[in-house]
Amino acid sequence: RNPEKERLLEAYELSAKLYHFLLKNTEHGTEAMRYLRSRGMSDKMIDQFQIGYAPDRWDTLVQFLEKRSFDLKEMEKGGLLSARHEQDGYLDRFRGRIMFPIHDRTGNVIAFAGRILGEGQPKYLNSPETLLFNKSRTLYNLHQSKASIRKSRQLLLFEGYGDVISAWEAGYHNGVATMGTSLTENQAALMKSIADEVVIVYDGDKAGMAAAMKVIPLLEGVGLRVKIALMSDGLDPDEYIRKFGAERFRHVMETAVSTTKFKLIYLKKNHILLEEDGKIAYAKDALPIIAALHSSTEREVYLRELSSELNLSYESLKQDCNLLRQSMQ
Ligand code: UTP
Ligand code: MN
Ligand code: MN
Ligand code: MN
Ligand code: MN
Repeated sequence: RNPEKERLLEAYELSAKLYHFLLKNTEHGTEAMRYLRSRGMSDKMIDQFQIGYAPDRWDTLVQFLEKRSFDLKEMEKGGLLSARHEQDGYLDRFRGRIMFPIHDRTGNVIAFAGRILGEGQPKYLNSPETLLFNKSRTLYNLHQSKASIRKSRQLLLFEGYGDVISAWEAGYHNGVATMGTSLTENQAALMKSIADEVVIVYDGDKAGMAAAMKVIPLLEGVGLRVKIALMSDGLDPDEYIRKFGAERFRHVMETAVSTTKFKLIYLKKNHILLEEDGKIAYAKDALPIIAALHSSTEREVYLRELSSELNLSYESLKQDCNLLRQSMQ
């Protein structure tokens, strides 16, 4: 046992409770509550995810921790406070932000993500890496979702906190998110230890699709089956659920596509298929992906789709595909 670690765990636990209380039961939280409501956040989710508010003051947490005899220097090192500039003393690290507690696998609060109300930079202020918190080994919401993941052997991977929360309310209790970093090998291995399949449910914008392209080989590399749910109109899952409802989100989840299909969709976006050059360029991008498939049935399925999409003969595409396969050996 590490006493400093124990003290920090205690401080994080109490801070989460304080922020949650301030949001729900005090005037400090009124504006934050209004903001959360405007985003469609329910009381139930505020409790389920222990969402809180850090008031826009310098020393709310400083006073709270001091009263409970915590060593403030230790709390600064632990990421809850900041050292004052050019003078002694400490101030709250999180001010005027919606607080999302981040838990470890067993449910201890080990960090926070603080979101600004409305516009501003940075949108999310995260806890630094500490004795408790290693970003690249943590998955947001794993403590609450692991039971459902183990049971279904399926994990849903989101980009953001709000996505996990909205999906939870829509009935998906097997969601996790990384915290603003790209997925690490460690996180992929962690997923593999409790799931067989991952559905990537990233934002439907360009950045989200590019991130999904990067994550696919990592997940497949540890032996996970991978599917991708496609959000339309550049929306993220949270926005999608708010705009179209849980029922249509369910449809999107049920029609999640294979990694091959996703790669083809992604590549197609770079080409104008109405032009001959565009058609040929897209075929050149698509064929190596199809040629790399081990199953001839799968290759046929995608070649036939490509054929009708580009209005090219199946035979000529198949011939090019086979040539590629020979050169790949
Ligand atoms: P997004 O920009 O998609 O944010 O970043 P979001 O989750 O949809 O947030 P809302 O709906 O505007 O509140 C995706 C994730 O990247 C990380 C966060 O983990 C966020 O959930 N991120 C983003 C940061 O860590 N810092 C930032 O400033 C922005
Ligand atoms: Mn509560
Ligand atoms: Mn995004
Ligand atoms: Mn988003
Ligand atoms: Mn969002």
